[in-house]
Amino acid sequence: MSRVLSAVAWPYANGPRHIGHVAGFGVPSDVFSRYMRMAGHDVLMVSGSDEHGTPILIAADEAGVTPQELADRNHRMIVEDFVALGLSYDLYTRTTTRNHHAVVQEMFLGVYENGYFVEQTTFGAISPSTGRTLPDRYIEGTCPICGADGARGDQCDTCGNQLDPQDLKNPRSRINGETPEFVETQHFFLDLPALADALAEWLDEREATGLWRPNVIRFSQNILSEIRPRAITRDLDWGIAVPLDGWRDNPTKKLYVWFDAVIGYLSASVEWARRLGEPDRWRDWWNDPDALSYYFMGKDNITFHSQIWPAELLAYSGKGAKGGTPRGYGALNLPTEVVSSEFLTMEGRKFSSSKRVVIYVRDLLSRYQPDAFRYYVAAAGPENQDADFTWAEFVRRTNDELVAGWGNLVNRTANLIAKNFGEIPAAADLTAADQALLDHVNGTFATVGELIGRNRMRQAIGEAMRAVAEVNKYVSDSEPWKLKGEDERERLGTILHVVAQCVADLNVVLSPFLPFSANAVDEVFGGKGDVQPMPHIEEVEDLDGGPGYPIITGEYSDVRPWRRTPITVGAGIAKPAPVFTKLDPSVVEEELARLGG
Ligand code: MF3
Ligand code: ZN
Repeated sequence: MSRVLSAVAWPYANGPRHIGHVAGFGVPSDVFSRYMRMAGHDVLMVSGSDEHGTPILIAADEAGVTPQELADRNHRMIVEDFVALGLSYDLYTRTTTRNHHAVVQEMFLGVYENGYFVEQTTFGAISPSTGRTLPDRYIEGTCPICGADGARGDQCDTCGNQLDPQDLKNPRSRINGETPEFVETQHFFLDLPALADALAEWLDEREATGLWRPNVIRFSQNILSEIRPRAITRDLDWGIAVPLDGWRDNPTKKLYVWFDAVIGYLSASVEWARRLGEPDRWRDWWNDPDALSYYFMGKDNITFHSQIWPAELLAYSGKGAKGGTPRGYGALNLPTEVVSSEFLTMEGRKFSSSKRVVIYVRDLLSRYQPDAFRYYVAAAGPENQDADFTWAEFVRRTNDELVAGWGNLVNRTANLIAKNFGEIPAAADLTAADQALLDHVNGTFATVGELIGRNRMRQAIGEAMRAVAEVNKYVSDSEPWKLKGEDERERLGTILHVVAQCVADLNVVLSPFLPFSANAVDEVFGGKGDVQPMPHIEEVEDLDGGPGYPIITGEYSDVRPWRRTPITVGAGIAKPAPVFTKLDPSVVEEELARLGG
């Protein structure tokens, strides 16, 4: 048994989330966390809404509301969407809580006291027409590294490098196209060069595990050679105050959104422990060197999780070239694995809300089953290469694989048992073929479990579905519908018992991917429908006197074990309603018509 931190990327609360977001980090992290709990690990799964920074400001400006109002609205929407998708967070919170602000300021002070910040005068962009500061994201231009146009002041999405706005060629304001003016301003920089050796050592050690996806470890090691100090404060009025005299009350200096957001993993763990009434419990996942931590995200986030966040942790813990000692949080664990996905496109194009090349999670779930989408993501998502979502493929996978494969097996098994016995029959003598099938299916606990544990979701669900096909073939080959005579009744019972056991096993094996239908299938076979616990929304008070907010939480300790549980002979089985909905092919046309040309 290990302690496992499932650290899931914090979505910006600048709008509703589309399926590209949840395909990258949402579904994969949930499959992993659900499996790890079933395998007996002590999982803490945390995340929240990322509510500071210019993405929120831009959206608030456009909507004509305050950043807090905008964040409130979108946070609530994201919470509802994620619960509807069945994402089993122990805590999904937000970055505007007082707890988060306090934890971020504590981390800042630890890094500061250990000497890993340098103060520098730099040039900040202002708009010549208004005199207001222009945040990095409001500036775009040509990337100085790869030459791509449309790079933002903070990052180039084409090559993934972090940038400073004054490095951009042909910089221009995204608000009105004017050329920004750069004026002197004072900022704190994280002294990454003083942490480079410690980072390299950690990455080498990680590489040796062979666990990380090759492109993620390679990218992380490559960016080490370009390492330089990074500004972690901004000329902004929305964000977390710098907890130092002379800075604290300055309304236009805030901590950089990325400095604060990654600390969310820690602050959410602290909040979770405080809400539990055991305020030190978070330490089991953060101070114990044996605890494991997996960070889930899209590839545009790798830099922040394999360099900035580990650097913050090392600096706080006093483990860089400048030494130092940790403050009250103690020495903090570095990530075990940065699990990054690639990008999802939509009908061959980049997701774009403005061009309506998009489907929001909310809209998808209003028309389709969450497990149909989860299945698609697990089977065809952007796990280690870019992947394309098409409606034709969604319909095909749903109908040909989920409905015709697994759904059909569940239905015909339940129907045959309901019709012939009304309850799960006992097995008499097993043939070699019966035993072979039982053994093969029992073996999927090991094969599929091992793959999920290594975040090979596509392979994992492929193995499970191959076993489903085996069992379907066994049913077809043994033709139980032909066994009508009294003297064949015992054989009929044996076959249906074997198949029912296999269905029960595969239902458990598929349950991290398909939690909603796992519970429905369990009920069909006389169970309580409690294979997979589900998350729920709770309206909570801020722990330190701020405004209340909705969180996602749940009680997941009572999970099915990851192994065969013998079925109960005599459990009543009624004729089932189909668990999965077959989609009409007209869905493709309908959905394509909703997209922008
Ligand atoms: N909000 C960022 C994005 O959507 C991700 C932040 S992950 C964090 O790209 F944990 F660092 F917050
Ligand atoms: Zn670039």
